[in-house]
Amino acid sequence: MSNYLYCGDNLQILRDFVGSATVDFCYIDPPFNSQRNYYTGRNSSPTFIDMWHWDHLAAQKLQEIQAQDFSPTTIALFQALPAIIGSGSLLAYLVHLTLVIQEIHRVLKPTGSFYLHCDPMASHYLKLVLDTIFCPQGGEFQNEIIWSYRTGGASRKRFARKHDVIFFYTKSQQWVFHAPKEKSYMMHRYGFKKSNFQLEPETGRQYSLVYGRDVLEIPAIGSDSKERLGFPTQKPEALLSYLLQASSDPGQVVLDAYCGCGTTLVAAQRLDRAWIGIDLNHESIKIGQQRLVDNFGVSCLENIIIHN
Ligand SMILES: C[S@@+](CC[C@H](N)C(=O)[O-])C[C@H]1O[C@@H](n2cnc3c(N)ncnc32)[C@H](O)[C@@H]1O
Repeated sequence: MSNYLYCGDNLQILRDFVGSATVDFCYIDPPFNSQRNYYTGRNSSPTFIDMWHWDHLAAQKLQEIQAQDFSPTTIALFQALPAIIGSGSLLAYLVHLTLVIQEIHRVLKPTGSFYLHCDPMASHYLKLVLDTIFCPQGGEFQNEIIWSYRTGGASRKRFARKHDVIFFYTKSQQWVFHAPKEKSYMMHRYGFKKSNFQLEPETGRQYSLVYGRDVLEIPAIGSDSKERLGFPTQKPEALLSYLLQASSDPGQVVLDAYCGCGTTLVAAQRLDRAWIGIDLNHESIKIGQQRLVDNFGVSCLENIIIHN
């Protein structure tokens, strides 16, 4: 099994290096259009920038959507959107993601599954994009998963915002799905070991997950979490393990095109999946690489191809 870690712009890397219909499972956790910079630890330069502007490059990308091989519904969506949301940061963000999602759709196998992690500020627009790419080509919307967490502050002006949205789409009407079950059932039926189940880092207790529902209560990485690497927006490995075990099998190929500090890659490696990670930022790649070595030893790097 070969793993690939690429440092560079995901659109270019997907187009140049990832073959059509080669990926079984893809999860992405792109920037959310939060219009701010993210720093690792006390570094003075940002690890990644989540600022979007309507500029020459964004206009070029919009033209690509209108000129290229997109479905008539995607083209119609982007003809309508500028009048609805204006030609600003949100449109720039959506055209970027649309080009990347189109490539992800291409690299997915016909039985492949796609998970897009986003937040409620943009999720309704992203669902339109996903519907126009997946559904006209035989794919289907499966779930809107709510990842609910408790970290972060409260607000005096509104209810505290304590969830992210993860969309689950399949490329066709046939896909892998192992409905998550109670721990004892999974151990008996599928030979899962205790180590396949994540424990709450702080208390050592099993998560209060109600298995198999579309609302996930998995603790976010807290300031004293053992998993914490100081990487901004790091997601818990338990979240990725849960999705991977539901939607892929050992030996299959997993892609994360915004892999950050490597959470998906570590979860995939632990579950015996092959993986492809892409990130634009050298620091993210460095942290992810070190994390893989710390967890699995240098031998797991033998298969890693760093492409700068
Ligand atoms: C929200 S973080 C991902 C965090 C990741 N899920 C984790 O647990 O570590 C988003 C990542 O996307 C990367 N990124 C942003 N634009 C990108 C692009 N065009 N190509 C590849 N990576 C990109 C950023 O460098 C950042 O590391």
